[in-house]
Amino acid sequence: QSIDAIFKSLGKLYFGTCADSGLLNNGQNAEILKADFGQLTPENSGKWDTIESSQNNFNFGGLDTLVNWAQSNNKLVRGHTTVWHSQLPGWVQNIRDKNTLTAVIQKHVSTEIGRYAGKVLQWDVVNEMFDENGGLRGSVFSNVLGEDFVRIAFEAARKADPNAKLYINDYNTVEKGSNYGKTTGMIKYVTKWIAAGVPIDGIGAQAHLMAGESKNVKASLTALCAVASECALTEVDIVGAAANEYVETVKACVDIKNCVGVTVWGVRDPDSWRASQNPLLFNSGYQPKPAYNALVSTLAAM
Ligand code: G3I
Repeated sequence: QSIDAIFKSLGKLYFGTCADSGLLNNGQNAEILKADFGQLTPENSGKWDTIESSQNNFNFGGLDTLVNWAQSNNKLVRGHTTVWHSQLPGWVQNIRDKNTLTAVIQKHVSTEIGRYAGKVLQWDVVNEMFDENGGLRGSVFSNVLGEDFVRIAFEAARKADPNAKLYINDYNTVEKGSNYGKTTGMIKYVTKWIAAGVPIDGIGAQAHLMAGESKNVKASLTALCAVASECALTEVDIVGAAANEYVETVKACVDIKNCVGVTVWGVRDPDSWRASQNPLLFNSGYQPKPAYNALVSTLAAM
């Protein structure tokens, strides 16, 4: 039984991974994606510097490939990501005028999300906008528009695809414990924005863990999930990939009712953004690692 099938039998929507067109055509990745995973996140092809590297010049080649492959193979898609300070082209970073930046965000968000309306389950509308203390990270978005950029982005996203679940996504929110500044800050802001009518459906916790951090996931994720309709672990990888740490992390989502799914950030160690730390579920020979087998046996017994 695949890990995705087991996850679905536990009432969740998917167990997925990131991918992009290069990976789909490389080695045994496609077979593994088909057999083991139920959801795909574009690792890089949906980012601003790829989608709109110069103003109004949209490039959807890579993302089209990923979404089409997902559709023909019955995989759900998490869209990633429309508003992020990183991988952001200079022409956006240089904007200083509020009205200009508002229009640029609206155009970018509505064009990208609108193109895939009906084909994407969830979108990371805003990514990594908090600093470690729980305030707003300095970026062109927060510097020019203050926190209002969040409302602008989410409203444009809702209009572009009324059926997609709209997420705010960040890292270091489940790694350090529920009292960590970024975690409590995210909870405070998201609670306030949802109360004010900003259409945020979900909180994404990336969960790029260092060894030893899995013990912090359950309490932090519980606190985060309590403030939105739904939540997900969106980019899981764990330095060293200890089996018990993977199980503890994934089980946290299983145990939280409105945690809808888990996405790991890659298939095979050598293709990871932190390859030297062997953080994934498959080794260089495309063989499942102990963490994968432990997940299957533990989850199947739940
Ligand atoms: O495509 C070019 C290629 O043409 C060039 O030869 C090569 C030389 O370095 O670079 C390639 O682009 C790289 C790209 O990955 C594709 O491999 C970029 O330099 C590199 O910066 C980029 O890294 C990605 C990183 O985000 C930055 O966007 C990682 O693959 C991706 O895993 C990582 O994912 C992020 C999430 O989006 C957000 N959360 C954190 C997570 C990990 O950093």
